[in-house]
Amino acid sequence: MTGAIQPLRIAVIEGDGIGPEVTREAIRAADAAAAIDGVSFEWRKFPWGSDYYFEHGRMAPADYLDTLAEFDAILLGAVGHPSVQDHITLNGLLLPIRRRFDQYVCLRPSYLYPGTQSPLRDKEPGSIDILVFRENTEGEYANVGGRLYQQTDADVAIQTSVFTRRGCERIIRAAFESAAKRPRRKIASITKSNAQGYGMVLWDECFDKVAAEFPGVSTESLLIDRAVMEFVRRPESFDVVVASNLFGDILTDLGAIIVGSMGLAASANIDPTRRSPSMFEPVHGSAPDITGQGIANPLAAILSAAMMLDHLRLETSAARVNSAVKQLLARVDGPKPPDLGGSGRTEDIGSAIVELINASK
Ligand code: NAD
Ligand code: IPM
Ligand code: MN
Repeated sequence: MTGAIQPLRIAVIEGDGIGPEVTREAIRAADAAAAIDGVSFEWRKFPWGSDYYFEHGRMAPADYLDTLAEFDAILLGAVGHPSVQDHITLNGLLLPIRRRFDQYVCLRPSYLYPGTQSPLRDKEPGSIDILVFRENTEGEYANVGGRLYQQTDADVAIQTSVFTRRGCERIIRAAFESAAKRPRRKIASITKSNAQGYGMVLWDECFDKVAAEFPGVSTESLLIDRAVMEFVRRPESFDVVVASNLFGDILTDLGAIIVGSMGLAASANIDPTRRSPSMFEPVHGSAPDITGQGIANPLAAILSAAMMLDHLRLETSAARVNSAVKQLLARVDGPKPPDLGGSGRTEDIGSAIVELINASK
């Protein structure tokens, strides 16, 4: 049967704070790039987040995960509001998506673009090029535990990390597979097995086991405290990095800032089996300190949309977006957002990217 190619269906959760501001620009960029390649999207916006919570007492409808399951991908802005406790907003919307759809690979690149300044001294463009594989479904984020004698002097909180052989091996293997294809073929495992004698010891054992399957990849194992120091002292030495959920979270804010800004940090939450939709979102949060001012850097969201295009096998369209971002950052005269030392507004950055994408026709 022949016929028009069906548009890809994307669920959009703009969320809170600067989420809607940056997501709008990500959609414009993805639309522009895909249109050149004859592909279109059906964007379905869901008004979930803290405003929904104020009205309904929950972040999203009870069946929101079933609703999302029907889509080809999910594009998310940010979640978090200064007047609601973060564990309510995040556990009520974002974190269950990663678990339910088994998005066990959280992919977070940090690349020092030409035209962008690292706060670290004397760093050449391209000299920092790190790809973090963050475990995304268990570990310290398993949210297993409870409270006892709450609000009394005997208050007890138990928060248990969950490390499984399956969970550790699959993220470590995904990281090795990627490292084996990169020119430097290096991988660093992040651990804390000197203090955490169960979960992190299992992590180390899984790393050693999987490493034996990839003799062409050189390995190092770093304690997390040492690793944050080395991210500052010798960031150029890192290629692929594999870390647990919490360590990966912390390391990727650091990874973002050593290449210039949170406003450039993209992220993909991937189910490699493709049974469920994957989710694409910037690393940054809702940034309440700059919300509504029209100055948020949309490039992290735009680069996350490029990761989505790549995952949807629209590699040419993804390359158009990535190249537009690279060109804009390299230009001396182009608009730059305030976090990168310019005075460009969110919308103007988005428009400049669309223009550059259209010029790639
Ligand atoms: P944040 O990432 O929102 O902000 C940290 C700093 O970086 C702020 O100064 C902010 O202005 C700046 N920044 C972030 N994104 C920027 C952008 N695109 N352009 C320019 N500057 C940018 O982190 P936070 O302040 O710790 O968290 C704020 C809220 O967001 C909290 O409620 C937190 O739980 C939530 N959060 C959500 C996500 C998510 O939805 N994925 C991620 C991180 C934090
Ligand atoms: C991130 C965020 C989330 C995380 C928060 C908001 C729960 O910081 O995506 O990096 O820790 O995973
Ligand atoms: Mn984070």
